[in-house]
Amino acid sequence: MASLLKKLFGRSEPRIATIKPFDVQVAVDGSQTLLEAALAEGVPFPHNCTVGTCGSCKCRLIEGKVSAITDFGYTLSKQELDAGYILACQAQLKGPITVEVESPGADLPAPEQFQGKIVKSIDLTHDIKAVTVSLDRQIDFVAGQYADITVPGLPARSYSFATAPERGGRREVTFFIRKVPGGQFTEKLFAGALDNAEVGLNGPHGTFFLRGGEAPIVCIAGGSGLAPLLSILQHARKNRVRRECVMLFGARTQADLYQVTEIREIARDWLPSLRFVPVLSHEPADSDWQGLRGLVTEHIAAMLPKASPADIQGYMCGPPPMIDAAITVMTDLGIPLQSIHYDKFTDASTTAR
Ligand SMILES: Cc1cc2nc3c(=O)[nH]c(=O)nc-3n(C[C@H](O)[C@H](O)[C@H](O)COP(=O)(O)OP(=O)(O)OC[C@H]3O[C@@H](n4cnc5c(N)ncnc54)[C@H](O)[C@@H]3O)c2cc1C
Ligand code: FES
Repeated sequence: MASLLKKLFGRSEPRIATIKPFDVQVAVDGSQTLLEAALAEGVPFPHNCTVGTCGSCKCRLIEGKVSAITDFGYTLSKQELDAGYILACQAQLKGPITVEVESPGADLPAPEQFQGKIVKSIDLTHDIKAVTVSLDRQIDFVAGQYADITVPGLPARSYSFATAPERGGRREVTFFIRKVPGGQFTEKLFAGALDNAEVGLNGPHGTFFLRGGEAPIVCIAGGSGLAPLLSILQHARKNRVRRECVMLFGARTQADLYQVTEIREIARDWLPSLRFVPVLSHEPADSDWQGLRGLVTEHIAAMLPKASPADIQGYMCGPPPMIDAAITVMTDLGIPLQSIHYDKFTDASTTAR
């Protein structure tokens, strides 16, 4: 039958994917990805980049086998791979499969297309700017989410909202953007070529947001990864969230720390307590720095909130190697993989490796 179909249609027999919790079955052509087939059938499968970098289409393979167009390991952690997670946008079926899509457990606003203009660009450090975009109308987002920004002639780039959302939406949104040497978008931005530029903004996207409950939280930010965590902390403070919190911020030197006053201000009002711990990896040994040194991941164990690790939630944003190392430390300490939430700030070099 398979060879007859192949002869008749000149391509391979469709394979069937059962997608939970929607409990739908879709036929997936040999040349299609799981995501393409699901979307073609109208299944509301979470997704964004479609090229294996954002992690939005992450799902758990319960049964069957798939092959990966781009290695899932660029975006997923070793622990997620071991637990059977795959990326639907990079998965082709080897036979019938069953996958489970995790429900975000919250009503996330549907992404929309906006027009905007870069109206402010302020240096936070020598290589991180706070960039403010004024939009053609209000945007509704959940603290921790991100948007895709486009300027003419360049592909879209993802940036996390750095401020808390407002009831009724925000007309001006701010992002913390780090200069990536050789990067198409950021080199232009830091050269001033995008000052007052018209931009397109698509969003909000992503499922990185503060989960409910009373679990103590440990947040880890690296570089511009502070943006979504600051948004989450500001929003939580505004809404009088009462959860023990530790906020670790990894940077190279004192010159790479920023928004420290803002975080200390949040910590002052936070109940029952927010402990802010900056950690510097390349601070000169003879400097006046009194704080912690080394890699931020080396200090997680000693800084964990006082609770059973099984009850702690982890939230992390920043460079992929930091996230991967932190997931290993956290899961080794007993924090459940499902309680660890992150956005990896992947770029073109991540998938080109
Ligand atoms: C969900 C998400 C949220 C993000 N949020 C933020 C944020 O809040 N703040 C932030 O600063 N960043 C964030 N990022 C990263 C951001 O989207 C961009 O990837 C980053 O700014 C680099 O863009 P660029 O155009 O300057 O660099 P790119 O042009 O993408 O280049 C990046 C690097 O890759 C190298 N490169 C390009 N092509 C290749 C190749 N073929 N082989 C090898 N190397 C190559 C370049 O030389 C450069 O060093 C986020 C990413 C994701 C996925
Ligand atoms: S949609 Fe699959 S990783 Fe982004």
